Amino acid sequence: MLFLVSTQWNEVWIARTFVLSNTTDMQTKQTISIIGSTGNMGSAIAKSLAKGNYRLLLCAGKQNSADALAKEIQDNNPTAEVEAIDCSYNASWEADIIIAAIPFGIEKEIAGKISEVANQKIVISIANPLNTSYDGLLTASDTSAAEELQKLLPNSKVIKAFNTTFAADFSQPVIDGKQADSFIAGNDLEALETVSELVATAGFNPVIAGDLSVSRTLEQMQLLLITLNMKNSYNWLAGWKLLHN
Ligand SMILES: NC(=O)c1ccc[n+]([C@@H]2O[C@H](COP(=O)([O-])OP(=O)(O)OC[C@H]3O[C@@H](n4cnc5c(N)ncnc54)[C@H](OP(=O)(O)O)[C@@H]3O)[C@@H](O)[C@H]2O)c1
Repeated sequence: MLFLVSTQWNEVWIARTFVLSNTTDMQTKQTISIIGSTGNMGSAIAKSLAKGNYRLLLCAGKQNSADALAKEIQDNNPTAEVEAIDCSYNASWEADIIIAAIPFGIEKEIAGKISEVANQKIVISIANPLNTSYDGLLTASDTSAAEELQKLLPNSKVIKAFNTTFAADFSQPVIDGKQADSFIAGNDLEALETVSELVATAGFNPVIAGDLSVSRTLEQMQLLLITLNMKNSYNWLAGWKLLHN
């Protein structure tokens, strides 16, 4: 499969061509820890990625829920490599990639637990820092949940991904005949490529949108989508699609 993705940041356009299938075949299996794996998003991501060439470590607040999810995924995908593991330090020390599928409000607590073992690793921020009435963000306009996580994990490669898709989209990433886009932002080019492959494995069209500060826009986009979803009753099966020629 050939993807041509154009990325723009620091006023430089970089055209990147990924030959995803070939590189994936040659890669050794990456280990992904999903913190918050039993939640709406964590479980949807885990089930999607179980189809890919990954080893999954599932972690959640309640260990028995993570155990049950690991069994469900294994039963449905006999070749999947998946295990429930004690949160969150243990689930992260052997991971290549850590997905923080947790509410924004506990990211500080979780970052404190994993900071030592997340050094130089990709940490995916999926959070939308919504207020309790879902009509605004808790973050100031000059920052984002992803940038705040990067401050808490200065030696990690924080990448924004999966925040512009609803959990319901994962079982049906093709909506109204179009594959939903999933926007990605971050400062490390190699990490952006790695996360693009992960997003494609989950069934979405990866779009690298820019550096980590673009997360401010991506988090606002999801706030808008949530507002429209509630107003128009999209049933949480909605997403973004960038049209271009
Ligand atoms: N829902 C969506 O459609 C959607 C879309 C895009 C982005 N997001 C973002 O995704 C994130 C998760 O949302 P969600 O809807 O999946 O939330 P959720 O259903 O409430 O799931 C939260 C997960 O975090 C775990 N958790 C809570 N406290 C924990 C702790 N101290 N240590 C480890 N795990 C802990 C929970 O496990 P226990 O239940 O066992 O405590 C659960 O697995 C949020 O930041 C949200 O903004 C959500």
